Amino acid sequence: MAILLTGGAGYIGSHTAVAFLDAGVDVVLADNFDNASPKVLDRIEAITGKKPKCVRADMCDKQAVEKIFAENEITGVVHFAGYKAVGESCRKPLKYYRNNLDSALTVLEVMKKHGCTRFVFSSSATVYGDQPAPLTESTHTGDCSNPYGWTKYMIEQILKTACDADPDLSVVLLRYFNPIGAHPSGMIGDNPNGIPNNLMPYVTQVAVGKLPRLNIFGDDYDTPDGTGVRDYIHVCDLADGHLAAIRYAENHVGCEVFNLGTGVGYSVLDIVKTFSRVNNLDLPYAIAPRRPGDLATVYADPKKAETVLGWTAKRTLDDMCRDSWNWPKQNPNGYEE
Ligand code: UFG
Repeated sequence: MAILLTGGAGYIGSHTAVAFLDAGVDVVLADNFDNASPKVLDRIEAITGKKPKCVRADMCDKQAVEKIFAENEITGVVHFAGYKAVGESCRKPLKYYRNNLDSALTVLEVMKKHGCTRFVFSSSATVYGDQPAPLTESTHTGDCSNPYGWTKYMIEQILKTACDADPDLSVVLLRYFNPIGAHPSGMIGDNPNGIPNNLMPYVTQVAVGKLPRLNIFGDDYDTPDGTGVRDYIHVCDLADGHLAAIRYAENHVGCEVFNLGTGVGYSVLDIVKTFSRVNNLDLPYAIAPRRPGDLATVYADPKKAETVLGWTAKRTLDDMCRDSWNWPKQNPNGYEE
């Protein structure tokens, strides 16, 4: 019996694989390695002492998904697979709608055929759009500002209606806030292609010396220091949230949604200062114009996950900044030697 982690070799998928294996939960990873390295598998084995089963497969390929379900006893799915670059989604919206919706629908159809009824979905705080923080699960959703966000919103709607129609189905929607950090071993971590868009991978590339300085996108927001405020969450806490979610899905039917955040907002300057202090280095930065589409303040109300799932984020911002640096410090070229 195993849980299928689609996109299991990616940043959040690989950390979730470690959390599941450490907890004695068997996993099968499926990944097309479009945005992930097969080398992550050896690293997961080195951390956990267990070699995870992994299948190279695209989740839009129904035959390939069928084969995974035919050859393994899959008792639940955590669906990470999908494209995730906001900017690219604006340039190539059809690519995002086709891939993200198709892969979710394909996995759901094959699951149903094989009598598998538990599904945990990687959603995002982006479904809230521009709503005042703290965001609760009942805050209005659906004013997404980019096609990537719309794919998350649309898949949430698909899953809700699938649950309405199937009394056996158990779905957990996890709305992630801003995952950063890496496994404390420094053996796995975020490994974006090209110049990073997100704050922490950009910060670490400046620290490694690959980029000259961080550009802080705006210092005139209505926030305590003028820079954007986000709810950063350690990826290992996020991984633990998936374990709580799949366990919850074992004993409940229907569709439930949970924020996975800390409930605390930190500014870009908080990140710069904490990263510099805990890692004892200077991080050059400059104030740049606002990035179009960015919001001033985004943070979660994480109480529902605590009450219902018994899950809270435990790692501090110091932990997040230390572990974020540990990974590229040991692996300046990511998974490449
Ligand atoms: N920022 C900079 N400089 C950079 C990169 C980011 O100042 O080089 C700032 C942004 O303006 C923002 C903060 O750092 O204030 C965080 O930016 P990220 O790009 O890391 O994250 P976002 O909050 O913009 O977006 C993230 C995910 C999305 C997801 C969204 C949900 O990347 O996938 O959260 O709220 F949709």
